[in-house]
Order: sequence, then structure tokens, then C-alpha cells
Amino acid sequence: MSQKIQSLSGYYHEYQKSIHQPEQFWSRIAQGFHWKKPWDNVLSWDFEGPEIKWFENAKLNITENIFERYLFTHGDKTAIIWEPNEPNEAERRISYSELYEMTCQFSNALESQGIQKGDRVIIYMPMIPEAAVAMLACARVGAVHSVVFAGFSSTALADRIKDCKAKMVLTADGNFRGTKNIPVKAVVDEALAQTQTVEKVIVYQRTQTAVEMKSGRDLWWHEVIANEPKANTAATLDAEDLLFILYTSGSTGKPKGVVHTTAGYMVYTHYSFTNVFQYSQGDVYWCTADVGWITGHSYIVYGPLLAGATTVMFEGVPTYPDPGRFWAIVDKYQVNQFYTAPTAIRALQAYGLEPLAPYSLDSLKVIGSVGEPINEEAWHWYHDHIGKGKCPLVDTWWQTETGGIMISPLAGITPNKPAHASLPLPGIQPLIVDAEGNELKGNNVEGNLCIKFPWPSMLRTTYGDHKRCKETYFSTYPGMYFTGDGAKRDHDGYLRILGRVDDVINVSGHRMGTAEVENAINEHPKVVESAVVGFPHNIKGQGIYAYVICDLEGRTEEGLIKEIKETVRKIIGPIATPDEMQIVPGLPKTRSGKIMRRILRKVASKELSNMGDTSTLLNPEVVDQIIKGAGLAP
Ligand code: WT7
Repeated sequence: MSQKIQSLSGYYHEYQKSIHQPEQFWSRIAQGFHWKKPWDNVLSWDFEGPEIKWFENAKLNITENIFERYLFTHGDKTAIIWEPNEPNEAERRISYSELYEMTCQFSNALESQGIQKGDRVIIYMPMIPEAAVAMLACARVGAVHSVVFAGFSSTALADRIKDCKAKMVLTADGNFRGTKNIPVKAVVDEALAQTQTVEKVIVYQRTQTAVEMKSGRDLWWHEVIANEPKANTAATLDAEDLLFILYTSGSTGKPKGVVHTTAGYMVYTHYSFTNVFQYSQGDVYWCTADVGWITGHSYIVYGPLLAGATTVMFEGVPTYPDPGRFWAIVDKYQVNQFYTAPTAIRALQAYGLEPLAPYSLDSLKVIGSVGEPINEEAWHWYHDHIGKGKCPLVDTWWQTETGGIMISPLAGITPNKPAHASLPLPGIQPLIVDAEGNELKGNNVEGNLCIKFPWPSMLRTTYGDHKRCKETYFSTYPGMYFTGDGAKRDHDGYLRILGRVDDVINVSGHRMGTAEVENAINEHPKVVESAVVGFPHNIKGQGIYAYVICDLEGRTEEGLIKEIKETVRKIIGPIATPDEMQIVPGLPKTRSGKIMRRILRKVASKELSNMGDTSTLLNPEVVDQIIKGAGLAP
């Protein structure tokens, strides 16, 4: 398949074709895949519905495009290199043939345990190859996987199980993360005490942690696969059959299940992986994300494996046993493409250059960034000290909803500009609009980022609630997909993403809805009301700042803050724990009762100039009280 763009003029040429004749463009790209039956129609769409169908009526199985397509040519090639948490534990190298056998065997086990096409299976697992096997085995039988990041709490897990009415949970006994051994199975047990739909739990033995196995419900992974054959025929799926659901936070309500379907996701993750990273056969590619996020789905598992690549999977954390761990792994496996998040870069940058000294990093050809805007300082540090000034740095902008990378340099092909995601990939038609939805054409414009034409890996719906999908993404600016991000097109025509314009904060590259954190805080019986905003944080990008009105009776402020933080950890998980919490006598409100978040954001960022007019507030006096309470002089 020659889908790889080789030059800047090639990029412009492909981009033009993709805009003027999108159907011909994508049909040519899709031809390289293995279809059980070809499509009748490349695309039908309506952003009003929304209703989007790619490769209509085609039949396929995505795992055949990973395995059967390649087994004859590179069955012996390494598919996954797994690096354990402990540097002195042996790594695992799994070839395409072995991964095929593991996938078939486990998919046979899924069927033996009653899983059928369309059933929802929750995956709550550590970063081990079996997490990828679990996803692929679901895809092989046509079950819909929903991976839940193993750092989420039992309540968050239970919410997701209930929302998708999952029939099965795949998990492990424990999860090694740095010095910790997190008892994941115990979290699953707690979650299942709150839900009704799960019939079976399959537990992979990773840490040898003692776990309770509920008879009739819980089964050991090694036992369920023991007698299953290591081959089978992949289920025949429709192009638009669900491949997976992935929950993500928005500005309102509970996290929503973003739905991705089979064919379009397959075509686009492969295409974007190949072009952005300029992957060549024989390269070793490493993305440091967790499979619990979309980055792990698209660029640890599906994209690389569809491309027949060697993908590294790391169980641990960047600072264990020391802050040189990433670089040790790069040298150990001679990693050629390295993809991580700005928050990790900033955290490692804080240790200085010493941790880098023992490592050459010579194997690196491409470095990448994802998850939040990368500030110029971090960009330069990454580019100069990790990429040694010779590696293109791809700043990749995309979202859970987009399924794949949308705006990014193509490594070494299109220009690099610090802190700019730069240009759209072929097939992607971004535009910047003003508040009324008018397109802002030309350079030097700033506004809200929308996409005006469908792309193959876009979300199709939000699970069980199509109306919510329409309202969230297709109603703000009718006829367009609204990203929730602000963006600027600079004087050179490159796009720079400015961050969220809605009530979503991006904490270490993880999306948190302020409303979601507020709801969790409000669960504490002493809390009367709360308001959560983001503030600039040196390492995390944004931190969480919570203002809380509460009844202090019988407690110290310190004690109560600790309790409320614990409540948030229990309801969502440690990633949602507020960095700052201030007990306040009131919240600034408009006469209609709306919280003036702008003021709260200013105080949280310690930026008291331009507070604007506060005299129209219902309770203007509260502003000074909040400023004083924050330890700032009004
Ligand atoms: C939000 C999506 C895409 C996988 C990881 C996050 C922000 C993501 C960039 C970037 C500036 C970025 C946006 C976006 N974002 N990448 N390169 N530059 N901002 O996925 O949890 O769905 O979050 O992350 O604000 O809307 P997600």
C-alpha cells in the first residue's frame, strides 16, 4: 500500500484531491485493506442528524487487517514489545503470529463464555499485552469493547458499566505502577456491587495479589483459554458496526460514550499513523499513553498494528525507578518514533539534563506530542534535548471524538513550527468561526475550531443518547462539527490550538468536566455548593481549583478539605483530585443566579487585573472575600 506521502508538494497534492474529490480519495486509500465484501457507497452524511456512514454495506473484520493480511509476509515480525514496570523483569516480545494466536484463543474463550456480536465488554486492565489482546479479541468476535482507564474509581467504573449495559468485565488481579501495586480486581468487585448487567469477569493474573473470586461469576484468564484453539475465523462485521465505546468528559452531566465504528476508524487510524509518524517497516515505535485513552486505542493498538508496525507498550510510569526511565527504554529498544504528552515532558524537564546523560537517544527519528497545547518552552526542550535538534516534532491535535490525528505536521514532510499543530491531514477540513458561526477566512484570525466535512474516523453517536451527540457537537454551529477548542491561524497559515472554550479542563492531557468534579464535591454531606475552574499549572498544563461553600460545623477547614478531596477520589479517581480547594462564604453570581466563572478563573490564576465590572453581581461583596481568602491582596 503506498499511502505514505513523501514530499511537501505531495502533501499539497493529496490534500487538494482529498478536498475536491473526497470519495475518490478515501476509496483509493481503502482499497489497500482486506474486505470480505466491498462497499456500495463511500460516504453518505448529514451533520443535522447527525448521520454519517462510511464504506456503506462493506463487510470486514478489523483484526483480519492486522493478522491474516500480514501473517504470510511478516508473521515472525515483532508486533508488541512490552516493557514491565520493574526494569529488571524480563520484557516480552510478541510476534504477529503469536499475537494472532493469543487473540484467536481469547476470542474463542469470549464466545465460550457467552459473548456474542454486539455485546458490550468492559476492559479495566493494566498496561500489559493482554489489554491489547482483550480489545482485539472483542473486535474479532464483533463484541463492542469499552476500555476504562484503570485509574478510575469503582463508582466511575460502575457508571460506565451501567451506561453501556456491559455483559462482561476483563481485568487483572493487580496493576504495578512505580512503587505501587494497585488492587484493580477489588475495584471491579466494588463496582459490580452497584450494577446488574455483568455476568462474567475474567481476571488475568499479573501481580499474584490475593483476590476474591466470586463463584459462578469470576474466572481466571489462564483457565478460560486453556482448552481453546489458537485459530478461528473472524466474525463478519458491517462497516458501520460498533467497534468500541470510549467514555469522555464534557461540559455537562456524566461522561458520554463516544461511539466509533469499524471501517472508517480502521482506514483513518492506519492512514494517519503512517503519514504523521512516517513509519517505515523495521522501525520501532513507542507511544507512552495508556490504552484507557483514545491515544492508546488509535496509536498503541489499532494504527500501528494495522500498519504491521512494532509497537512498544510500557507498564510503568516515567519517573520509576528514576526520571531517566523513558530514555532508558528508548535506548534499550532503539525506538525510532516516540510519542508522548506535554505534561510528561514538563515533568521530566523539571529534573534537568542529568537524567538524560547516560543515554544516547540516537535511534530517534521522530518525536510527537499529544493531549494539550504544548507550550514553547517545553517544545524547545523536547526538540533540543530529546530530538537533539534533528527530529521533526509532530504536535498532533485531535480528540476522543475524532478517532485519529486531525491537525499535525507530517514528520519531516510539512514544516514544524513551535507550539503549532500546523496543517490539517488530507481529508480534514477545519475552519475557524466567530461566535455567530461565520467562517473567518485568511490568516491572522482567531476563533472557535470547527470541521465542516466528515472524515472516516469521526464519532457516529454518543452511546444510548443520540440527542446528546447532536447537541454537544452539531448544534452550536449548525452544519459543522464543533470541537470545543479555540484556535488561531497565524500569519503563515498554520493553526495553533488555544485550548478549550467550554467548561472542560485539561489536566495532564486528561479531559475533566468542571461540572463532573463539582458533582463529586457536592456528594460530601457538608458541602452546600461548589464551583470548579482550571488554572495554569507548571506541570499539568491546567490544575483543578475548587471553591466550596460548606458547613464547617465540628470540623477544621483543613480536615474538611481533606475529606472532600477524598470524596472526589472515590467518585471519579485520583486524576480528578482538586489541586487547590478554597472554602468560601459565597460564589459570585449574576442576578439570574449563574456563577460568574470568569472571576473565579482570574482569582485561581492569581490574575487580578481586568476583573471587569462586578457591580452587577447579586453579591459583589463576595469577590473581595474570595480574593482575601485566596491569600491575594485585593
Ligand atoms: C482535547 C481532546 C487526542 C488524544 C488525547 C486527548 C486537547 C489534544 C492537542 C494538541 C492542543 C490538544 C484539545 C482537545 N488537545 N491534543 N496537540 N494541542 N490541544 O484526548 O481527552 O479527547 O481531549 O485535548 O483541547 O479538544 P481528549
